[in-house]
Amino acid sequence: MQVIHTIAELRDALAIHRQRGFVPTMGNLHDGHLALVKQARELVGPAGAVVASIFVNRLQFAPHEDFDTYPRTLARDCELLEGAGCDIVFAPSEKELYPEPQGYKVTPPPELADILEGHFRPGFFTGVCTVVHKLFNIVQPTLAVFGKKDYQQLMVLRRMTAQMALPIAIHGGETRRSAEGLALSSRNGYLSDAEKVEALRLSRTLQSLIARWQAGERDVAALEADAMQSLRDAGWAPDYVTLRRQHDLGEALAGQPLVALAAARLGTTRLIDNLEVS
Ligand code: PAJ
Repeated sequence: MQVIHTIAELRDALAIHRQRGFVPTMGNLHDGHLALVKQARELVGPAGAVVASIFVNRLQFAPHEDFDTYPRTLARDCELLEGAGCDIVFAPSEKELYPEPQGYKVTPPPELADILEGHFRPGFFTGVCTVVHKLFNIVQPTLAVFGKKDYQQLMVLRRMTAQMALPIAIHGGETRRSAEGLALSSRNGYLSDAEKVEALRLSRTLQSLIARWQAGERDVAALEADAMQSLRDAGWAPDYVTLRRQHDLGEALAGQPLVALAAARLGTTRLIDNLEVS
C-alpha cells in the first residue's frame, strides 16, 4: 500500500489503473470505514485500484464545531487500511488541497441540502460537495462508496454526481454498528462510558418510531414529536427525529420506501443515525 500526500504523485501512481474504487474519509477510521474499503475492493475487482482519502475538510465545519479537535490518527489509519485491502491512501495537507482559499464551491440545491443536517449545519453540504467534487477530479474514480450512516450526505452526493454527469458509479454501504446497536462513528470517541450506554437510545428511538408506523399509525408529526420527547426526557437535546422517503428525504407517504433519521446531542457530542423501513 502506498501513502501519498500530493496530487501530482497520486496522478502518477494511478495512471496505470483503469478501474478505481474510491472511499473518501476524514480518518480516525473504524470498522464502518473499513467495510466501505472492502466493498470498494469487491466492486473494483482484484486488478483495480482501491483509493482511500484521509482529509479533515475545514470547509464542512462551522466555526463552533470540532475541526480543531477532530482526531487525527494517520499512522493507525494506514495500518487499518492496509489490512482492509486498500492500495493507495491519499492524505493531502490542507495546503495541498486548498493552496488558495477555495472560492469556487459546489452548492447543492436547498431542497436537498437545507433540510435536516443542512438546516442544523448551514453550509455543511456545500463543504462536503466541494471537497468531494475536488477529490473526484483528483482521483478520477470509476466508482465511489459512501456510508448510509450519513444518509443525506449519500443522497446529496448521488444527485451531485448525476446532475454534473460525472462518470462515477456511487454505491451506498450499510451502517456498521456495535454489537449493542450503536452506529460506529469517529465522534463516539468523545462519549464517556456512561454516555456510550445511553447513546443506544438513539437507534432504539428510531426503531420504536418505525414499529408504530408499521403497526399502522399514520400521524407522522405525532410519531416524530413523541420520539423527540422521549429523547428529551432522557436528557438529550434532539435536533430532529423524522420519517422521510428514502429517495429525496421528502415527506413520508405510505407505499414509498421510507427511512427514519435522527440527530441529537448527548452532552456535548452530536450523534446522527438512521434506519431504513423494511
Ligand atoms: P467520515 O465521517 O470520515 O466518513 C467517511 C465515510 O464513512 C462516509 O461515507 C460515511 O458515511 C462512512 N461511515 C461513517 N460511519 C459509518 C458506519 N458506522 N458504517 C458505514 N459507513 C460509515 O463523511 C465524511 O467523512 C466526510 O463528509 C467526507 C465524505 C469524507 C467529505 O469530507
